[in-house]
Formats: sequence, C-alpha cells, structure tokens
Amino acid sequence: MLLILTLMTYLPIFSGLEWQTFEFQYIVRKDPSNQAQFRQTTLFTDSVIFLCDGSALTDQPQQEWTRQTFTRDELEERSRYCRHQHQEHLDWLHEIEGTINGTAEILQTRHGVLANHSGVFAFAHWGVNGEDFLTFDPPRLEWQPDSNMATSLARSWNKHKMRNQHFENSVLNVCKSLYNTLVKKQRLWKPTRQQGLEVYIFAKPIPESGLASLQCHVTASDLSGVRTQLTKDGVPLHSGVKLIGPRPNGDGTNQMRAQAQVSLSDTEGYSCHVQGDAHNKSVTWDGLSLDKKTLNPHDMRGVLVAVAVCLIAILLIIIAGRIILKENIREDAARIFRRNQSQEGLLDGADADSSCLFNPLSWLNGFSNSSSSNGHL
Ligand SMILES: *[C@@H]1O[C@H](CO)[C@@H](O)[C@H](O)[C@H]1NC(C)=O
Ligand SMILES: *[C@@H]1O[C@H](CO)[C@@H](O)[C@H](O)[C@H]1NC(C)=O
Ligand SMILES: *[C@@H]1O[C@H](CO)[C@@H](O)[C@H](O)[C@H]1NC(C)=O
Repeated sequence: MLLILTLMTYLPIFSGLEWQTFEFQYIVRKDPSNQAQFRQTTLFTDSVIFLCDGSALTDQPQQEWTRQTFTRDELEERSRYCRHQHQEHLDWLHEIEGTINGTAEILQTRHGVLANHSGVFAFAHWGVNGEDFLTFDPPRLEWQPDSNMATSLARSWNKHKMRNQHFENSVLNVCKSLYNTLVKKQRLWKPTRQQGLEVYIFAKPIPESGLASLQCHVTASDLSGVRTQLTKDGVPLHSGVKLIGPRPNGDGTNQMRAQAQVSLSDTEGYSCHVQGDAHNKSVTWDGLSLDKKTLNPHDMRGVLVAVAVCLIAILLIIIAGRIILKENIREDAARIFRRNQSQEGLLDGADADSSCLFNPLSWLNGFSNSSSSNGHL
C-alpha cells in the first residue's frame, strides 16, 4: 500500500463550516551536504496562518488577522514552539533511521485538531520518504504502523506509555488550546477587519462626448466580501457598470472601483452603496469631479460662487490698499516734519509729533514755511 502522504494537500473547504481544522505541518529534508532543512507550516481550516523556516526559525504570521491579533509575547511563544519542534524532529529522524532499512531522506509529520459538532478531535500522522509511516491514536495513546518499515518502531514506542502520554499532552493538547485561541481571535477580528473603509464618488469628464465616467472608489485594509453598487434615484445601475479590483494600493490597503458612464446634462441622484460584513456605507455624488469642479454645463452654481468670491477679493484689495496708502502719507509727513522742526529748533519733538499726527494740514503749512526758511540759510 503505497499511499503518498497527503501532507501538503489541504483538507477540503466546507462552506458553512461543518467542521474546521487546525494543524501544524512539518518537513525535515536532508540536503546534499546532509544538513537537515526544516519547515513548520501552521494551517487554520484552509489557509496558512504562520510559517517558520530558514535559520532564524521565527514563526511569521501569514495573514492580516494573525498579524494584527497576535501580541509580541504570543509571537515569541510561537517561535519557541517552532524551535522546540525543530529539535524534536531532528531527534525523531535520527531515531527512525536506526529502525528502518535504508536512509530516511524526508520526514513529514502533521498534527492538529478537527472540530465538528461532536467535539474537538486530535490527530497525528507521520510519513517517511513520501510514504505513510505512523498514525497516533489519541484515545488509546498508541502508535499504529502504516507501513512494514514502521512496525518495529511502533512496537518500541508503544512500550513507553509515559512518553505517549507526554506526546498527547505537549503536542495535541497544545493544538486544542491554540485552536480555541484562534477561533476567539478570528471572531474578534472580523468586526474590525473593514476598519478604515473609505468611499469616494466623483466623475471624470470624457472630452467632447457630453459624458462623464462616474467612479466609486472603495478603500480598506480588507475588502473580502465587500460589494459595491451604483444607483440612480435609488435604482441599481445594471448595464455598463464596470467593477475593477480589489487590488492592492501598495500601502497595505486595497482598492476596488465601480464605474459607469453618465450624461453631463443629468448629474443628479447618483449614489454608491458599499456593503460588507461590518459596514454599510452610501455616498451620494455631488455632481463634481475629483478636484471639486462642476461638470454639468447647465449648472451655473459654481460659476456664481466663483464670481462672488472674485468680487469680494477685489473689494478687500481696494480697501486694504487705501488704508496702507493713508498710513504711508501720515508716516512720511511725520518724518519730514520732525526733521524740519529739529533743524530749526523751534519746537520740541513731542509738540511736533502731536501737531503733525493730529492735523496734517497744519503741518503742510508748517512745511512750506520751514522750507522757505531753509532757503534763507
Ligand atoms: C466529528 O469528527 C469525528 C472525528 O473525525 C468523527 O468521528 C465524528 O463522527 C464527527 N462528527 C460529526 C457530527 O461529523
Ligand atoms: C531489513 O532488511 C532485511 C534483509 O533484507 C530484512 O530481513 C528485514 O526484515 C528488513 N527490516 C525491515 C524493518 O524492513
Ligand atoms: C448592511 O445591510 C445588509 C442588507 O441590508 C444587512 O443584512 C446587514 O446586516 C447590514 N450590515 C450592517 C453592519 O449594518
């Protein structure tokens, strides 16, 4: 019975979650220089959630939700588990080699839990050189050989009830508690996973066509399960709607778009509706382009506003100009008056200032007088 170990094939995905699996998959492979290459893959139902390999042996989250919900301490604990399993697997490979004819090039193991309506069940399967080798039977705490090569090893290990008890506790019970943690973390993550969902609706004019491309842009860290719909007066647009994405923005967020062509002469009543697990958002188009320019040629509101703004600005400039001009005349006059008064020594500074500042006309008379006096000097 040459059954190829189904190690790297995932269990089928069940809609409605009839059952769920959580498992660790391991591979230890000897490279040509007889060094053992090791990899630990952690799977939750149908997807890889952690990966630990290379020389650093740090367990890296592979999903947005495992990245976001695992604390530093928890991640360090994951890496410690990986390093421990690395050592265990090297020891097991060595032990297996002592009991089989030939060499063990590849050891593959998987252990974890399957959860369904009757409970949570642990399992552990081993394979050597690509063939089924041993299966652990948790209720009986026994190893069962899946190949003739494994008979002597199973017999030997089954003599050590304590060791099998330890395997059950340290490996399979860890899986059960980790499975419960994952279910909780994923449940907590789901309501927040579309956090920061943003919706923009605007249009780009299509030159010389009287049409515009109406676009609804939806951005969030996770857009799975999010649906976008364009409506006109509450009625969904069906024909000519193009859906694009989701595709990554390059900053950790994703974007999707719904676009349709609309007439520039009728820009009212368009909305974009976005529906997700955690969000329902509707945004109505204001008839403007992305840079807030009006698109409808018959809509004069924008023009009127622009004209009003220009008029107010011109008025303000004129008023400001007059004030500045006045101030300058006063200051110049005061300066010249002070200079003349001090040259002639007729008045002290304080009197000169007050006469000048409070009555420029009297100062002007004084100026003509003093300049004529200057002429005599
Ligand atoms: C749940 O899984 C266990 C172990 O595979 C199996 O024996 C049991 O019949 C399953 N129960 C249901 C309700 O599917
Ligand atoms: C190993 O090979 C020898 C000789 O070919 C055979 O007698 C023995 O049963 C084999 N052992 C195993 C565990 O297959
Ligand atoms: C969004 O709307 C749908 C359909 O009307 C509804 O089933 C869902 O519960 C709503 N979700 C939220 C978060 O309000």
